[in-house]
Amino acid sequence: MTTRRHVLALLVSTPFAAACTPSGLPDPVSAWRAPGAGETDARRFCLAHAILAPNPHNRQPWLIDLVGDDELVFRADLERLLPATDPLNRQIVLGCGAFLEVFNLAARSLGRRAEITLWPEGEPDARLDDRPVAHIKLIGEEVEADPLFEHITRRRTNRDPYEARAVDGAMLTEVGEAALRPNPANTLAVYSVQGDTLRDDLRRLAWDAFEAEIKTPAAYQESVDLMRIGARQIAEHRDGLVMDGPMIEFAHAVGLLNHSVLADIEHPLVKQGYEAFRPLALEAPAFMWINSTNNSRTTQVEAGRAYARLNLAATRAGLAMHPWSQALQEYPEMAAMHARAEELMSAPSEARVQMFVRVGYGPQIGPAPRRGLSDHIRT
Ligand SMILES: Cc1cc2nc3c(=O)[nH]c(=O)nc-3n(C[C@H](O)[C@H](O)[C@H](O)COP(=O)(O)O)c2cc1C
Repeated sequence: MTTRRHVLALLVSTPFAAACTPSGLPDPVSAWRAPGAGETDARRFCLAHAILAPNPHNRQPWLIDLVGDDELVFRADLERLLPATDPLNRQIVLGCGAFLEVFNLAARSLGRRAEITLWPEGEPDARLDDRPVAHIKLIGEEVEADPLFEHITRRRTNRDPYEARAVDGAMLTEVGEAALRPNPANTLAVYSVQGDTLRDDLRRLAWDAFEAEIKTPAAYQESVDLMRIGARQIAEHRDGLVMDGPMIEFAHAVGLLNHSVLADIEHPLVKQGYEAFRPLALEAPAFMWINSTNNSRTTQVEAGRAYARLNLAATRAGLAMHPWSQALQEYPEMAAMHARAEELMSAPSEARVQMFVRVGYGPQIGPAPRRGLSDHIRT
C-alpha cells in the first residue's frame, strides 16, 4: 500500500527520453509529455489529453471508434470495470465523465467545440453495457480556451502526507466554483470544510471506511490484483495502483513483497503499508465533496466532469487532492458507512455524494502511468 514516486519522478524529469525504458518496455509516463504533439487529427490531439483524466484505480476504461473526419464514439471498456468496489459502475462512469471533460478542454484549446451527446443509444440501468457513453463531434465554431487546460499535465492524485498548514476557505470556495462548468447542470454542488467538528467527523469516516474496505476480502483483493510492484510491472501494465521506489524494488527482488504477501492483511509489511494512510485521513487539513440531486447515469457523467475540473482548479491553486471513495461505495459491507457519509455530507434521499476528497498542500509528485493512445483507439 505504499505509493509511487522515485522511479516515475526520474522518468518524467527526462522529457526527451525515448518512449521505451532501458528494459525495452514502454515508458509508463510518456503520455504526459507534450500530449498530442505532432497530431494532425484534432480528435487524436484531444484524446491524447483525455487519457490523462483521473479515473478509479487507474483502470483507464476508455474505448474509442473514430468515425468519418470529425466524429467519434466513446464506450466504457467492460473488461476494465471494478465489480467488487464499484458494483454499480458509478465510479467508472465518473471516470468517463472526467475523460469527456478533459477532451472538451483540449478541444476548446484548439478553438473547437466538442458537441457531446451522452448515451446516444439510451442510458444503461443497473450495470454498464456495450452501448456508447457518448457520441462526440468536433465543431469548428469559435470558442474560447478554458484556462484549466493549462493544468492538465500537472494534475495529480496526491496520496502523500500534506503539510499541517491551514487551507484558506475562500480559496476552496473558488476551486469549487471552477468545478461547475459555465452552464452547470443544476444537479451538482461542491462543498468544503477546513475546520470544526464536521472535519473531525469526516476525518474519522475516511479512515474507518478505508479500514473497513481492507477488511472486506473481495474489495481488498480487487485492489491487490491491480497493484503494480516495481518498475517492471508498472511498465508492463501502465495502469493500476503503483508501488515503486528503492525499498519496494529491493523487497520485491528478494521475495519479501509480492501479490501473495499483499493479500495477507495480517502481514507486518502490509499492516505498515496501510497504517501509513491513517494519519493522512486523521490529519487531513481540508475536505471537499461533490453532491448531486439525483444519481442518473447522466448526472454521474456530469459529476465526473466536475471532478476533473475540481482537481485541475486545485492544481492551479497550488493545492493537492486525493479522493477517499471507500465510504461512497455501494457494496453491502459498506452500507452503514455509506449512510453515515450521506448524513454527514447532507445528501438525503435521492441525492448522492459523488466524490469525497482530501485537500491540502502536498509535495510535488510524478504522474501516474498511462497506457497510451493506441491502446484506446479501436478503429
Ligand atoms: C471516481 C473516482 C474515484 C477515485 N477514488 C480514489 C480513492 O478512493 N483513493 C485514491 O487514492 N484515489 C482515488 N481516485 C484517483 C485515481 O486512483 C487516480 O485518478 C488514478 O490512479 C490515476 O492517477 P492520476 O489521477 O494521478 O492521474 C479516484 C478517481 C476517480 C475518478
